[in-house]
Amino acid sequence: MQYRYLGKDKLKVSALGLGCMGFTQSYPPYLPENEAIFVLQQAVDLGINFFDTAEVYGPYTNEELLGKALKPYRSQIILATKFGFDLAHKMDNANRPVALSSKPKDIRNALEDSLKRLQTDYIDLYYQHRVDPQTPIEEVAETMKDLIKEGKILHWGLSEASVKTIRKAHAICPVTAVQSEYSMWYREVEQELLPTLEELNIGFVPFSPLGKAILTGRFNKDTHFAKDDFRSQIPRFNSENLNHNYILIEYVQKLAQEKQVLPAQIALGWLLAQKPWIVPIPGTKKVSRLKENINSINVTFSAEELSMINKHLNSINLQGARYPQSQENLIDK
Ligand SMILES: NC(=O)c1ccc[n+]([C@@H]2O[C@H](COP(=O)([O-])OP(=O)(O)OC[C@H]3O[C@@H](n4cnc5c(N)ncnc54)[C@H](OP(=O)(O)O)[C@@H]3O)[C@@H](O)[C@H]2O)c1
Repeated sequence: MQYRYLGKDKLKVSALGLGCMGFTQSYPPYLPENEAIFVLQQAVDLGINFFDTAEVYGPYTNEELLGKALKPYRSQIILATKFGFDLAHKMDNANRPVALSSKPKDIRNALEDSLKRLQTDYIDLYYQHRVDPQTPIEEVAETMKDLIKEGKILHWGLSEASVKTIRKAHAICPVTAVQSEYSMWYREVEQELLPTLEELNIGFVPFSPLGKAILTGRFNKDTHFAKDDFRSQIPRFNSENLNHNYILIEYVQKLAQEKQVLPAQIALGWLLAQKPWIVPIPGTKKVSRLKENINSINVTFSAEELSMINKHLNSINLQGARYPQSQENLIDK
């Protein structure tokens, strides 16, 4: 396994982490618990040491699963989880939480509960899942500073935060990593976020690095997603947009053919090639795909290839928002 380092404090993680959300939400069907535990433990055996979960995945059941699967390996792994959704309040029509709270007392309560579910007494990397407009980020950063002093968390991060918020937070308590969506399917972060993270020496953890599986070439233009599959609510995946956007998938397939690798490996290899401080967290429930994804670490691109690919990606105009409006409203701007 190759390793990478996140942030000034050089948190050492495997070059790819494992995104665990799909074990309990968004992409059904879900595995029986014993099979999910097997996949998670195989990931450790294959050299993955970086596991990504959140209080809200399930909610709660994802952390519970990781607690059961990873307890025997606790000292070898880096556990990342997230706080910040107000789970007692408002949901959208797909029953996804749309209320936030990062009040210090709510963070402390969430942390204590996450520690119990994860069967541990510390979190390696604790992210604010969404920026709470009602709680000044300075207050959140002060709380993180206290929790680090208390040894309950070792590092902290932000997810889907604006550069303005990141700067304010980092000035109070250094941020180790920012997590946001990034892939060949969604490249907005290249504009402002990545240059800011480079300047501040903050690591970057791209979520949905396979574009929620579209970049693997697994779906075709006419794929319809089941009602309980989150992709059925995402405008970018509706029939009209998918039909238009498929031009990108065909391009990724062409690159894969040229390099004699899989489309998923092009998508992940391309992300790894962008910066040495980028650590994607693809999600899968299958050991065979886990192995395919890990092999993307060996896919390399010359500077010339990268520049040619990026030029081509710039020429593709993707259609449709990446989130339904209820989720888009929660993004810090
Ligand atoms: N901070 C945030 O707000 C946020 C938001 C979304 C996600 N995340 C984190 O990011 C992680 C990854 O994102 P994601 O799960 O949304 O998207 P993703 O990693 O881009 O894609 C996951 C999908 O790809 C499929 N897949 C994985 N490897 C494959 C392969 N080699 N060949 C074919 N299909 C493959 C998976 O199916 P199978 O499982 O059936 O293999 C699953 O449907 C999540 O698990 C979560 O931890 C964070």
